Amino acid sequence: MIKTMTEKKGTYYITTPIYYPSSNLHIGHTYCTVMADAMARFKRLCGYDVRFLTGTDEHGQKIQNLADEKGVSPQAYVDEIVAGIKDLWKTMEISYDDFIRTTEERHVKRVQAIFNKMYEKGDIYKGEYEGMYCTPCESFWTESQLVDGCCPDCGRPVQKAKEEAYFFRLSKYQDRLIDLLENTNFLEPETRRNEMLGFIRNGLDDLCISRSTFDWGIKVPIDEKHVIYVWLDALSNYITALGYPDDPELFEKYWPADVHLVGKEIVRFHSIIWPAMLMSLDLPIPKHVLGHGWLLLEGGKMSKSKGNVVDPVKLIDRYGIDALKYFLLREYTFGQDGVFTNEVLLKRINYDLANDLGNLVSRTASMIEKYCGGIVPESHGEDEYDRELKAVATGAAAKVEAQMDKFAFNMALEEIWILVRRANKYIDEKMPWVLAKDEAKKDDLDTCLHNLAESLRIISILIHPFMHTTSEKIRKQMGLWYADVVWEDAFQFDMMYQEQVKKGEAIFPRLDIEKELDELDAMQKASQNKEEENIPLELKPEIEYDDFDKIDFRVGLIEKAEKHPKADKLLVFQVKMGTERRQIISGVAEDFQPEEMVGKKVLIVANLKPRKLRGLESRGMIMFAENGSRCEIVTTTAEDGAAVN
Ligand code: MSP
Repeated sequence: MIKTMTEKKGTYYITTPIYYPSSNLHIGHTYCTVMADAMARFKRLCGYDVRFLTGTDEHGQKIQNLADEKGVSPQAYVDEIVAGIKDLWKTMEISYDDFIRTTEERHVKRVQAIFNKMYEKGDIYKGEYEGMYCTPCESFWTESQLVDGCCPDCGRPVQKAKEEAYFFRLSKYQDRLIDLLENTNFLEPETRRNEMLGFIRNGLDDLCISRSTFDWGIKVPIDEKHVIYVWLDALSNYITALGYPDDPELFEKYWPADVHLVGKEIVRFHSIIWPAMLMSLDLPIPKHVLGHGWLLLEGGKMSKSKGNVVDPVKLIDRYGIDALKYFLLREYTFGQDGVFTNEVLLKRINYDLANDLGNLVSRTASMIEKYCGGIVPESHGEDEYDRELKAVATGAAAKVEAQMDKFAFNMALEEIWILVRRANKYIDEKMPWVLAKDEAKKDDLDTCLHNLAESLRIISILIHPFMHTTSEKIRKQMGLWYADVVWEDAFQFDMMYQEQVKKGEAIFPRLDIEKELDELDAMQKASQNKEEENIPLELKPEIEYDDFDKIDFRVGLIEKAEKHPKADKLLVFQVKMGTERRQIISGVAEDFQPEEMVGKKVLIVANLKPRKLRGLESRGMIMFAENGSRCEIVTTTAEDGAAVN
């Protein structure tokens, strides 16, 4: 076969978030890493000098608490989980170039150097912090940022905290951040950009970047009573892993990053704090921060404490790495949330992989074996069907490139499957088994099988970034040197010459969906029961009966509901409780339309101290149940005003 040389392009630096090693990762976490891996492999194949970084974010109070509960040191606690994370990436054949742990010496000393630089510049100063702290999110919030008195990110209660602390002059960078978000495509998708701009325009406070209430962190170099705020520590990983500031070689080669891939809830840290830190360090800003959506389960977000996480290893053991990767990349739209169900997974495997791709490979290989002695034949001329197949085959690579430029993995794969389906249709149109019966049609038969082999060669290149093992299996069956995948070859037809074809096992065996569903359900139930037995809920500290007795719960009838004029997340309710009418504000505008709430009878904490939320008074609190990332209303049919005990 003729060979094309890949043209050398520039560098490409892509990162995933560094994961908290608080517990084992679930399929939601693998989603981001699988996307980053596919992009890294794609860019490498296109000739870029790629650097792909991932790692773990190991400091902070949450980890310290978990280690305390388990009675081990935080280091021992994270070591065990990080080993599991590395194993997972190995199983999934994630092609990262570097794995950074924030407890590594190289990171620790560089974060301290970064702190010193920002301090010397005058961007860090000492003050006193008083604010509301959300322990699970490791975030301090101002009163105005709280929603219903709770953390605006996770909705959990916050505690008042006060401490001497170091501050970063985030406010100084407000105008430059607005400029960055308004005038560049630094942050995508655009909806997130508008959200962040709104946030910045509301006014940025200086950021508290040290803690003294716990010590599992990197010490502030000029004041060892404090540890550095975990987000300042974590965000720095993207440059400390490149050697910044003491070892400039990799840093100069790969910085600024081309893409930081991050989940939607951490976009704020990456598009406000991170660029401001870089501005303070006089470093270039990454080219893109891309925020992706979440994988949800039917009942809401996956969470270890609910025992409803999907374990990627179990799926890989059953269906293989490529099936899982294909599914994650094909099923979901970048930037949007998507629901994971076993049924969609199984259908994708059967329809797209076993039927469409698997059949094309096995039909082509067996016909070349049967009719051509296992040798890829030459082509002799072309008719309308041949021309159409060739056009689709040689046109696919450019379409895949265009979709990958937009991080539209699902559409890139769809472009490839247009070719897969076209090639299957071509077999039905040409009916090689009929051509084979007529000696006079030998040239037509050869042309047909040649074109099918060529199509599979191109498909093997196109799918390589997404499912390299399957690509290699196809190439082996088609007699192609499987390591020799060159992207440019996907643009050309008629490159094969007398390759030796050898039909192998089905690349994706067909599944009995009903049977698989039953077995997966049984497996999930078994592990859920195990989790329920073993993992107690994370509850707030116990309270006394007297404490509980202080709360006056009542039934309230919602008579009117409207959006808060100044806050997108808040709804303003007019509620009747027996003889009394009052106004209550709740942070549920993302989950409910105001109209649907009118007429509902809800549970209310009626004797809560009134407070102002963005200028309007709220008296009491309506109770909602958390269902993943959403809220559900808790209703009753009792009379309004009735006490709830
Ligand atoms: N340690 C921080 C990131 C610091 S980066 C400088 C962190 N860690 S995390 O482990 O909580 O989350 C890591 C990533 O996993 C986030 O981008 C988050 O959105 C993603 N996901 C966690 N659950 C997910 C789903 N169910 N679906 C998709 N992504 C999910 O945040």
